[in-house]
Amino acid sequence: MSAPATRWQVRAQRPVAYDVLKTPALFAPHNDALLAFGRREGARRFVVVDANVMRHHGAAIRDWFGQHGVEVHLVTHPGGEECKTLEACQDLVCELDTFPIHRRDDPIIAIGGGVLTDVVAFVASSYRRGVPHIKVPTTLMGYIDAALGIKAGVNFNGNKNRLGSFEPPQAVLLDPAFLPSLPRRHLLNGVCEIVKLAVIRDRALFAQLEADGAASIAACFANPAGEAILDRAIGGMLEELAPNLFEEELARKVDFGHTFSYGLETRHGERLLHGEAVLLDILVSVQIARQRGLLAGDDAARVFALVGRLGLAPDLRVLDSGTMWHSLLDRIEHRNGQQRVPMPAGIGQCVFLNDITRRELDAAVPALHARIKADHELVLEC
Ligand SMILES: NC(=O)c1ccc[n+]([C@@H]2O[C@H](COP(=O)([O-])OP(=O)(O)OC[C@H]3O[C@@H](n4cnc5c(N)ncnc54)[C@H](O)[C@@H]3O)[C@@H](O)[C@H]2O)c1
Repeated sequence: MSAPATRWQVRAQRPVAYDVLKTPALFAPHNDALLAFGRREGARRFVVVDANVMRHHGAAIRDWFGQHGVEVHLVTHPGGEECKTLEACQDLVCELDTFPIHRRDDPIIAIGGGVLTDVVAFVASSYRRGVPHIKVPTTLMGYIDAALGIKAGVNFNGNKNRLGSFEPPQAVLLDPAFLPSLPRRHLLNGVCEIVKLAVIRDRALFAQLEADGAASIAACFANPAGEAILDRAIGGMLEELAPNLFEEELARKVDFGHTFSYGLETRHGERLLHGEAVLLDILVSVQIARQRGLLAGDDAARVFALVGRLGLAPDLRVLDSGTMWHSLLDRIEHRNGQQRVPMPAGIGQCVFLNDITRRELDAAVPALHARIKADHELVLEC
């Protein structure tokens, strides 16, 4: 008989609490929302700002820190997927070493799009084994999605987000005043993620998009209806994220549009933005749901009509079922052995599929081409 093993067990729970706070005109002189986090006496802040944000809003940001007596070290970082690298993290760590901050009460501040907040959050999760950080999203993608949760990461070895961590921020501060300087393509990129939420979990949001989406895009969401759309999208996103922050549950509604898009985005990175790839996945999924009879013809037609009405122009040329099938196989690893593909079963209703076949995908691509061509011709005739 072998001797009984000596065993010690360690158990711990890490509480997570952070505010997502909408605070318009964050860098107006009177606004001190940013001072609510970290020390005020002798405050030092390491601030990373997206290079394009710096171009449009840099003076206001710099002035704000000066007006509030905060010693600041401003670093710019270019946005764009190609800058979401380990090298970018190493550069930031080297910069951090030149500007000592208190490990607990001088939070790093990330001001930028999803690329920048993912990179900075990853640095914050590993610098001295973890320092606090605050996210200030400046793209629509960040505002309604990327900055809200706790996922951090960089692309590596040809794979998106291959290295990353779960790192709760100290706070997320939302200022819609950043959106008007965003190029239209990037605004629409974020709209694709709102469409995702509407189709898979929120019929009322879908109706809001139908009624007010186009006008809201034209107004950069600075109109009351646009604000209502963003507030609803954020609330819905947080309802999905909060009970499953660390993704113990791998069947996630918010993964709608993120199964086939992964491969498309990896393969056509120079051509497709994240939301654009998500939109293609949404349309393929709607087509599959239609083929299976999960989605009624009228509902599928409403989704296609909404995409047209919002001015989203999916680039169908990049669709190929081989890439998408391999993407699904990769997602099976990511989702621990099962497909767990969220699919619409009616607008605002979700089911999870584990039995999508290559044949279905092969059929969906030409059917989608034919559908969009027919819709287009209909519009031209009108
Ligand atoms: N962590 C998450 O949960 C999560 C969720 C969704 C997406 N993401 C990630 O987000 C990334 C995409 O984010 P993104 O779409 O914000 O891209 P991005 O950060 O590259 O920003 C897009 C472009 O807009 C510019 N920009 C940013 N703010 C601006 C402003 N206010 N005015 C003018 N220009 C501005 C940037 O310089 C860049 O050129 C992807 O890497 C994706 O994986 C992460």
